[in-house]
Parts: sequence; structure tokens; C-alpha cells
Amino acid sequence: MADRPVALVTGASSGLGERFARDLAATGHDLVVVARHRHNLERLASELAAAHSTVTEVLPADLADPRELALVATRIRDGDPVDVLVNCAGFGSYGRFQDLPVEGETGQVDVNVTALVVLSHAALSVMVPRRSGRLLNVSSTAGFVPGPGSATYSATKAFVTSFTEALHEEVARSGVHVTALCPGFTRTNFQARAGVETRALPSFAWAEAGPVVAAGLAALEHNHAVCVPGFVNKVVAVSPRLGPRSLVRRVAGLVVNRL
Ligand SMILES: NC(=O)c1ccc[n+]([C@@H]2O[C@H](COP(=O)([O-])OP(=O)(O)OC[C@H]3O[C@@H](n4cnc5c(N)ncnc54)[C@H](OP(=O)(O)O)[C@@H]3O)[C@@H](O)[C@H]2O)c1
Repeated sequence: MADRPVALVTGASSGLGERFARDLAATGHDLVVVARHRHNLERLASELAAAHSTVTEVLPADLADPRELALVATRIRDGDPVDVLVNCAGFGSYGRFQDLPVEGETGQVDVNVTALVVLSHAALSVMVPRRSGRLLNVSSTAGFVPGPGSATYSATKAFVTSFTEALHEEVARSGVHVTALCPGFTRTNFQARAGVETRALPSFAWAEAGPVVAAGLAALEHNHAVCVPGFVNKVVAVSPRLGPRSLVRRVAGLVVNRL
């Protein structure tokens, strides 16, 4: 892995993370791929080796498990240099908070927040002294509004966006790029896994993974603090600023109840 830049992608076993891995491989990166489903990661690794001669280190890990998370952080801090970190692993849930299993709610905090903080710390602690590197944290438009029906998920993504913007400013003159990517509804396994009913959503509300990932990588290259891909998502991102918070959360609740 010495000659080519190395990108570590969490959540590379499906959806946006897999697409990040594919696009980074296609642009000459070797990879470290992280998720729980080893088989998916291995299949991706052999496909990318055949397509682009990509060298891929498969690093299966449950990022909700502190010991496995620590192994990934150690790989970033003490292993061969990682040039790009994409924190993409994440999941949500849907329903009234008190009716959902609490383990799923705390699990979102573990994966969407704690793991992202630990891995961002590992990455910046080596990238900033090196004065080079790229950190892309996958957030969501859900982070722009309180989310009745996905209270924990929306709160985790509000954290990710705020946290990443702050890091962007902290390292602004270090040569390290830091970006938060805030997609809206994107066709992946996410909604099925979260139990979100999406049949009522109009087709214009949906994006495909390809353009979302392309926008995120372009924003990272230009060191934009926040990237909101797509017109509909941009409207979602600015609308909370147009009215009082009480109205914003009421409208969010009405929209969710119609899904
Ligand atoms: N799709 C959307 O509409 C949408 C919109 C906005 C933001 N996002 C964000 O985009 C990111 C990727 O989601 P996606 O849409 O690509 O959904 P996805 O297809 O369900 O992928 C989620 C990825 O996260 C990994 N993951 C989940 N829990 C994990 C754990 N405990 N340890 C390690 N890896 C774990 C999964 O891998 P394993 O199951 O193999 O562990 C999988 O690779 C998430 O952060 C999500 O919040 C998605």
C-alpha cells in the first residue's frame, strides 16, 4: 500500500459506504474497509482488485463494541498512513421513542456518534501533524430538524454536522480537509433497516447513492465544511431558518405522520 493513497471507509458493506469504496478505488486509492459483514467486504475487495488492482484490507468490526472500535482507531493512528477517512457507518430507527427497544436507540449513539468521534480523533491526531489528510463524516438532512419519529437518529446527525463543522474550523489552516455530507432520502438498505415506511414519498425526494457520493467527494476535495447534495435537500436544510423552532418541529411531526 506504499505508493497509492489509502482510504478507510466505515460502513463499506452496503449502500453509501460501498459506493464510497468503489469511487475511491476507481480514483486510485487503496482501501481499508470496515463493517460487520465480512463476506460483503471480502466480495467487494476481490471485485475492486480485479477492476482497479486495488489493494484492500478487510477489517470487520462492530463499531458499537468499544474493543472492536479501538482496533479500528489503532489501525488509523498506528498503522500504515490513512490519507482519507470516510465515517459512513450508521443506522436509524422509526417509531415513538418509548416504544422502540432502548438498545437500538443507544446503539445509534454508539455507532453514529461515539464511533465517529473516536475515529475522527484517531485520524486528525495523525493527519494534522502530517499537514495532510481528508476526513468526511456522513451526516444527514435529518440533523437540520428535530425528528419526531426518529428522535434519536435526528439528534445523532445534528451532533455529527455540528461536530464536523467545528473540526473543519479547528484544522482550517493545517492542510487537512474536513467535510460533513448531509444526504436526504437515498436508495440504500437504510430505510428498510430503520423500519421507515416510504411508499408515500414522491420520487423527486429520492436520490441514488452515486450522485450523493460524488457530491461528497467533490466537497471534500474543495474542503467545504458542509455538503447538502440535491435541490430538495437544500430546501430542507434552509427551511428551519425561515420560521420559529416551534413551527419547524410541528411541521416535521406532521410530515412524519403522513409517511
Ligand atoms: N440512505 C439514506 O436515506 C441516508 C440519508 C441520510 C444519511 N444517511 C447516512 O448514510 C450512512 C450510510 O447509510 P446507508 O444509507 O448506506 O445505509 P445502509 O445501506 O444500511 O449501510 C449502513 C452501513 O453501516 C454499517 N453499520 C451499521 N451498524 C454498524 C456497526 N454496529 N458496526 C459497523 N458498521 C455498521 C453497515 O454495515 P454492517 O451491517 O455490515 O455492519 C452498512 O455498511 C449512515 O450514516 C446514514 O445515517 C443515509
